Amino acid sequence: MSETTTAYPVCIAGTGSYVPERILTNAELAERVDTSDEWILSRTGIRERRIARDDEFTSHMATHAARRALEDAGMDAAALELIIIATITPDTPTPATACYVQQALGATRAVAFDISAACSGFLYAMKIAKRLISSGAFNNALIIGAEKLSSVTNWDDRATCVLFGDGAGAAILRRSEDGEGMVLATEMGTDGNLTHLLKIPGGGTACPITAANVDDNLGTLSMLGKEVFKHAVNRMKEAAEIVIERAGLKAEDIACVIPHQANLRIIDAIADRLSVPNERVFINLDKYGNTSAAAIAIALDEAQRTGAFRRGDHIVLVVFGAGLTWAAAAIRW
Ligand code: UT7
Repeated sequence: MSETTTAYPVCIAGTGSYVPERILTNAELAERVDTSDEWILSRTGIRERRIARDDEFTSHMATHAARRALEDAGMDAAALELIIIATITPDTPTPATACYVQQALGATRAVAFDISAACSGFLYAMKIAKRLISSGAFNNALIIGAEKLSSVTNWDDRATCVLFGDGAGAAILRRSEDGEGMVLATEMGTDGNLTHLLKIPGGGTACPITAANVDDNLGTLSMLGKEVFKHAVNRMKEAAEIVIERAGLKAEDIACVIPHQANLRIIDAIADRLSVPNERVFINLDKYGNTSAAAIAIALDEAQRTGAFRRGDHIVLVVFGAGLTWAAAAIRW
């Protein structure tokens, strides 16, 4: 089914986000590993990140963000029909984190499941939910990106531990009645030839964590940063251009680009290649670092609430992550 033959238009009716209270600064990290505030800031743009408490799980952060999105949409949890959570740090391998959130919200009617697409997960969830609503199968959906990356970070590896943080962002999608918040076009892609660039090697069936390898940090994120950087710029540029064109727009029509919050240099490179001036690009990674699937969802919520764009403005969301995966969406707010 092509984008243009969808039966029902779909809109974003509300957004919400949540980050844990605890702030971990670059200076604190420099006490632990051989790094500096200057290195982290100049190479990534990150100043600090949030770290969840030991007893604060992915589902807890997701539930906070969801409640705020429901409030923003003026909607009751009991009316929700679908909950999709994008995460690579679920509370438990099974059941899905979405099931815990369904229970916590009292969203008893909602079908709930997780998807795993790393940093691209929130926009994958958006495309899935959009199709399920536009086809008439569901009237609404709660999509969430939520991560407790601190639980899969090797805190002794300076190349990765300075990058990640915890948090959650959510959005309510529903059939559009008045044309506001319309999701105009979506795009997503995957290149499984590049699985080796960014992964958590252990903890699955390929490499279970055993008594013999428990000290090898196999359950933490490992990355070939430079390679990821290169692919990220190319894939995000292409995906953004596709949705801009599919929505019948030009780069100069875009009031706000909200990119994946991984590295300021990546964001600058994309803005440059899309010919979008820096002041139209939303950035909050200085405060939160890279929160994987949560990053774009938190950014969308903050951009919306701080007036980075207005009703009727066109915005573009664009992400990439492990897989490699990438995705983009064009929205008329
Ligand atoms: O959501 C998707 C997730 N991933 C990404 O978006 C990551 C994409 N990649 C990046 O953001 C960047 O590649 C990094 C920020 C990860 C690294 O920046 P870089 O400019 O590519 O640095 P590099 O890996 O080439 O390292 C340069 C130097 C190395 O030292 P030598 O070999 O030149 O002596 C590293 O050992 O910086 C060193 N280094 C550090 N120094 C201080 C690496 N990490 C650190 C650190 N503090 N934290």
